[in-house]
Amino acid sequence: MQEKIIILDFGSQTTQLIGRRIRELNIYSEIIPYNKYPYGQEAEQDIIGVILSGSPLSVYDEGAYKVDIPAIAAAVPVLGICYGAQLMSLSYGGKVEPAPSREYGRANLNYVDSACALFEGIEPGAQVWMSHGDTITALPESFRRVASTAEVHLAAFEAGPRMWGVQFHPEVYHSECGMRLLENFAVRVCGAKCSWSAQSFIESTVAELKATLGDDRVILGLSGGVDSSVAAVLLNRAIGDRLTCIFVDHGMLRKNEFADVLRDYQCLGLNVIGVDASEKFFADLAGVIDPERKRKIIGADFIEVFDAEAAKITDARWLAQGTIYPDCIESLSITGTVIKSHHNVGGLPERMNLRLCEPLRLLFKDEVRAVGRALGMPEHLISRHPFPGPGLAVRILGDVTREKVAVLQEADHIFIQGLRDSGLYNQVWQAGVILLPVQSVGVMGDERTYERAVALRAVTSTDAMTADWAHLPYDFLAKVSNDIIRRVRGVNRVCYDVSSKPPATIEWE
Ligand code: XMP
Repeated sequence: MQEKIIILDFGSQTTQLIGRRIRELNIYSEIIPYNKYPYGQEAEQDIIGVILSGSPLSVYDEGAYKVDIPAIAAAVPVLGICYGAQLMSLSYGGKVEPAPSREYGRANLNYVDSACALFEGIEPGAQVWMSHGDTITALPESFRRVASTAEVHLAAFEAGPRMWGVQFHPEVYHSECGMRLLENFAVRVCGAKCSWSAQSFIESTVAELKATLGDDRVILGLSGGVDSSVAAVLLNRAIGDRLTCIFVDHGMLRKNEFADVLRDYQCLGLNVIGVDASEKFFADLAGVIDPERKRKIIGADFIEVFDAEAAKITDARWLAQGTIYPDCIESLSITGTVIKSHHNVGGLPERMNLRLCEPLRLLFKDEVRAVGRALGMPEHLISRHPFPGPGLAVRILGDVTREKVAVLQEADHIFIQGLRDSGLYNQVWQAGVILLPVQSVGVMGDERTYERAVALRAVTSTDAMTADWAHLPYDFLAKVSNDIIRRVRGVNRVCYDVSSKPPATIEWE
């Protein structure tokens, strides 16, 4: 049995965070659309608690999402957050009304019932984060207020031995007591054993993969990135050489990257086919300037090359992918229908009659990294910066040629190696160099030069949705600039990109 806490999603932007926080307690959690709860089914037996998320809707909206809270609470403890708490209160005869003004931001608890299990160890004064349009104005008779803030009298309630509701959001970092509250719910109330770890994930997943795949052969496309690499090593542990990995070189990877990563994969014992298809990619990209066309051409070429290799493995039954949890959550609409496909090898599964195998589909990115470490993978593969699928092609503004790629690879190598040597690599989310479509005048020795300019880009981020430019030390930037201009032929000017996202994006194209 895999004990789990279920988060029923009503569409809040912070639902994923609830899942994350529970996982941080080493408790397995799953987010499912509100209307997919397995009432009375076998799957319900593994559930030890349920959290109802917030929602952009009001409980009074036409078509407001509803669940059968008494049926759920009959089986397991339930915690409602914001909309979830309002729904709970309303279901038992309480009153929910629009707040006089939308309450948003920091607040402090000014009353806490210390006898309430949910608030054990949480003192008055603790900071919480509010974000709601409606508010609970009267509790059902059997409910009891257990916390307040200056603005929100009914900030939290308890209802019998199995139900709690909080108007604030314990899952966001600004709720300083949030983690303690979630721990109180999950561990004290639901009795979670906190035994979920990278190691336990590996053991159960390898066993599952063995049982599901049997003697079947599996194909997997490697990108050099952490997700597909960890998926490959996990599968390799389960089925060994019956996993064939395909690693396509489109010619626009970083300096030496194809050879280095291929060697890493071979050292890890993976059965991997490296395909140098750079000629095709460069030919098809010749003269193309528009960024979206570049992406489309690279995407289509990649599928063609991968398909051709995959078709040689005639007895393959499965296509494995490094899809991770945020991709899956994004691809589920609130009603549970898939709205965005994450098959990154278009058409292949249907045509070759392959089934999809996604062993990391329930992990967050940092959990994927933890699994990679527990599998003994080298740190440089695990902590690599994200790198776009189309590679340096989208960091060369204008048309892409082998000569430009070679120039950019050199400059990029100096920057990235410099970050590693200075211990700055792991402090930034992502870094790279952009080859600009401008030339400028310079002077080297006694000679006038008229050469290319490059831009250094380094950002900090937690999810690539927003990013700030990395405030790298001036001394470091000065050294990188010097090294690039001295060592990379054809470049005489280095700029540093100081734009955040939004309004800029991380990549320039
Ligand atoms: P932007 O430039 O949109 O990038 O701020 C956000 C993150 O996505 C990566 N990225 C891509 N990854 N194919 C990919 O696989 C692409 O076409 C692509 N474009 C951007 C980017 O490197 C950053 O991590």
